[in-house]
Amino acid sequence: MKEQLEKIEQLAKQELSSCDDIKALENLKIKFLGKKGELTAILKQMGKLTAEERPVIGQLANKVREDIENAVSERVSALKSELAAKKMKEETLDVTLPGKTPEIGRLHPLTVVMNEVKEIFLGMGFEVVDGPEVETDHYCFEALNMPKHHPARDTQDTFYINENVLLRTQTSSVQIRTMENRKPPIRIISPGRVYRSDAIDATHSPIFHQIEGLVIDKGVTLADLYGTLELLMKKLYGNDAKIRLRPHHFPYTEPSAEVDLACFNCGGKGCSMCKGEGYVELLGSGMVHPKVLEGCGIDPEVYSGFAFGIGLERITMGRFNINDMRMLYENDVRFLNQF
Ligand code: DAH
Repeated sequence: MKEQLEKIEQLAKQELSSCDDIKALENLKIKFLGKKGELTAILKQMGKLTAEERPVIGQLANKVREDIENAVSERVSALKSELAAKKMKEETLDVTLPGKTPEIGRLHPLTVVMNEVKEIFLGMGFEVVDGPEVETDHYCFEALNMPKHHPARDTQDTFYINENVLLRTQTSSVQIRTMENRKPPIRIISPGRVYRSDAIDATHSPIFHQIEGLVIDKGVTLADLYGTLELLMKKLYGNDAKIRLRPHHFPYTEPSAEVDLACFNCGGKGCSMCKGEGYVELLGSGMVHPKVLEGCGIDPEVYSGFAFGIGLERITMGRFNINDMRMLYENDVRFLNQF
């Protein structure tokens, strides 16, 4: 029996040394010391021993139990500190590593140019006003001298919400809202989104931006329009920027003009970049039609004024040499990072 006990101790210690997780150690303890364990099985045979043998074997059995228990708990605590050290190592913070610099956002090129245009006009004493994108037929067309069935409506494919309500096709609607609500002198610009049912391509989008301008006062002439727009273009594109006014037709201006910018490449002579034209079309403008002034309660005998509408995408593309409008909407960071 003595040998059996010594064997158990030896076996337990052997198995213990190859145990490297806590669950396995618990199982090992049960295996040797549990109710159905090997040591208990031996102790059950104590009855067969003589009265002299019993205390000797009893003492030995207790010692074996204690030894195994101690060995197991030593191993458990050794394993626990090994695990803790490992975890600690994994979680160590290396303060010498370079940090992650947060990426800094940038303004979208359309916002950059929009801000520049606003600054230029604020410098000339203009005010920036806002108008609704969902508009009524009255403000978008009717009051701009474009009654129902006027052919000029066909050039602006309109998204209608119902017969009378629509997504504005032009910021010119804000001219009417302003003139109906204020007395001259008026000097405003109104930047904002406009909508037209156009297919997307390199120069078209169903949603784009315009900046409307309106000046009403006594004695305002076409020369004021020219001077204002020329200054705008020189500030945006540099002092060499050259513009020209080309006769056109808009129902809400008389006379009307389209404004072209001399091609940067050839200075107006005509080259492959401007397709031989020498100039690129920039915006629509004119002297506010007397009928429009009258409709807004402004006496055309006393006051006159000019108005213009600039496509923000077009001047942004010119400013940064962007040749496809879709780039402005796709939000590709490789593109946006360049501004
Ligand atoms: N509304 C015109 C357009 O969308 C642009 C325009 C032309 C605005 C003449 C004006 C103007 O204020 O007087 O093409």
